Amino acid sequence: MISKGFIRELVLRRDEVNSFDEYPYNIPAVRQLDHLPLHPSVTYFVGENGSGKSTFIEAMAILAGFNPEGGTKNFNQQLRPSESQLYEQLQLIRNPKREKTGFFLRAETMFNVATEVEQGDYAQYGWANLHVQSHGEAFLWLMQERFGSNGLYILDEPESALSPQRQLAALRIIHELVKQGSQFIIATHSPILMAYPDALLYWLDGDGLRKTTYMETEHYQISRDFLNNTELMLKHLLG
Ligand SMILES: Nc1ncnc2c1ncn2[C@@H]1O[C@H](COP(=O)(O)OP(=O)(O)O)[C@@H](O)[C@H]1O
Ligand SMILES: [Mg+2]
Repeated sequence: MISKGFIRELVLRRDEVNSFDEYPYNIPAVRQLDHLPLHPSVTYFVGENGSGKSTFIEAMAILAGFNPEGGTKNFNQQLRPSESQLYEQLQLIRNPKREKTGFFLRAETMFNVATEVEQGDYAQYGWANLHVQSHGEAFLWLMQERFGSNGLYILDEPESALSPQRQLAALRIIHELVKQGSQFIIATHSPILMAYPDALLYWLDGDGLRKTTYMETEHYQISRDFLNNTELMLKHLLG
């Protein structure tokens, strides 16, 4: 059965924001946010560095019950609090169906997640020691062995660990999990990872946040042009 997703919409309670001139409310994507529908399968947040993707992703993850540093809902280590207060005015509108499992992955704090797994004696629950695998191997292991059906998965730039081949593998796993009722919310720069067709894609920039399509993203167009005209583009770029 195709899932209708767990989280249907994101709402910013604008009347509770003191000032839209201060971080994180001054981020253009937040400043003009009101209601934002999420896709029942996959929702992407794509945009330039600093456009607010992580701020959004993190607030959603906290509201969904994850530790801001990442992991499953049972992880609670926090080495350096750095989350913004956005979650206090943001609200997740849920569907009646609740997720059975889930994971919040941030590329920046994957190391801390691995440390919690190692120190927290997770081996007894079938966890591999993520510290003795490469970053990419550890991430793919997590997806294959620890992601499951009816899960909520919030991922912030997972591609930083993954070779192109493994990004394809990740896309395939996402597809399998979506068919088993899982929902994904993903911030990414990867023209491979953002290609899942049954998805909603939001573009964040200095003007705010808007719906777009895969082939309209700069990420797709620049990658395509570069691969199709590598010599010409290098000549323009390097003179
Ligand atoms: N603790 C903070 N205080 C002030 N500004 C911040 C803080 N953290 C991030 N920012 C700013 O908020 C903006 C959005 O950051 P972020 O959500 O990390 O962007 P992205 O993930 O899209 O690269 C950036 O301009 C960043 O400099
Ligand atoms: Mg980020």
